[in-house]
Amino acid sequence: MKATAKAHTNIALIKYWGKRNESIILPTNNSLSLTLDGYFTTTTVEYNNSLSKDEFTLDGLAVSGESYKRVSAFLDLIRNMAGKQVYARVESVNDVPTAAGFASSASGFAALAAAGTKAIGLKLNDQELSRLTRQGSGSACRSIYGGFAEWEMGMREDGSDSYAVPIAPADYWDIRVAAVVLSSAQKSVSSRVGMRRTVETSPFFQGWLDSISKDLLEIKQGIQTQDFEKVGEIAEANCLKMHATTLGASPPFTYWHDTTLVVMQKIWEMRLQGTPVYFTIDAGPNVKVLYLPEYEEQVKQTLGSLPGVSDIRLSRPGQGITYL
Ligand code: DP6
Repeated sequence: MKATAKAHTNIALIKYWGKRNESIILPTNNSLSLTLDGYFTTTTVEYNNSLSKDEFTLDGLAVSGESYKRVSAFLDLIRNMAGKQVYARVESVNDVPTAAGFASSASGFAALAAAGTKAIGLKLNDQELSRLTRQGSGSACRSIYGGFAEWEMGMREDGSDSYAVPIAPADYWDIRVAAVVLSSAQKSVSSRVGMRRTVETSPFFQGWLDSISKDLLEIKQGIQTQDFEKVGEIAEANCLKMHATTLGASPPFTYWHDTTLVVMQKIWEMRLQGTPVYFTIDAGPNVKVLYLPEYEEQVKQTLGSLPGVSDIRLSRPGQGITYL
């Protein structure tokens, strides 16, 4: 009754930003991501009849509060599927700065779902695993797959048609992502709260939704033809539209820091000078930069020397779930 799984985080090129059902996590739009090899979570789940409650450690420290509740509630889903009432010891080790906009919840829930289902004896296919993972954290359902994946929002109320599907594997295209780390500080508005506030109050939310299907169609064409400029342009514009919705929310908020803008402006300047680099930003201040391998040195040098940049971590496309 024990299993270990490793999952990588993913970066959304077309963002998931809005839920139509909060309790089983159904999104308001499709999203599309690239799984990254640089950030991952390794999780061991062991069910044991002698436990009187679930136990959860992250990087060796016992976790309580909201995070514990989310993990335990997710284990309930697995227990219900398996028809077994047995508590678990969960040990997670994160190679993702938690809650700093690096979607640690994505690799975290993907690894938990994989290890938790295997340890209890469930044999799920990727689609079933993705559908389950979605209910832990939406973006996590895309981390089941390596390379490019699309989360199909689905139409049904019960969520049975809401899961991610693979678009192209990790070795399909050597596109790189540099995470420009500005601050490891915990973010002030979680993606969950930020998303809800935006859906409920931002007049820009509808405009955001209306723009998704065109972005999706075009970015998929760009991936299919390996047209880097096209993919970069659409991803960057999609990110800016998502972040614009937060400024229209009430009360308004932004995930950007002053240095976020400094990095964005530098990237625009690099493009004007002929270097094809693009950015995307999740629910945190750090900037993820898309580039092709031949520009790696330039990206590292130019962005690494900016004031306020504390680290640059380079990623290639990463693999989906692996069992250890
Ligand atoms: C900005 O997946 O963390 O990174 O479903 O509430 O757990 P919950 O949210 P989460 O949101 C991710 C938002 C995003 C965009 C994206 O990854 O698509």
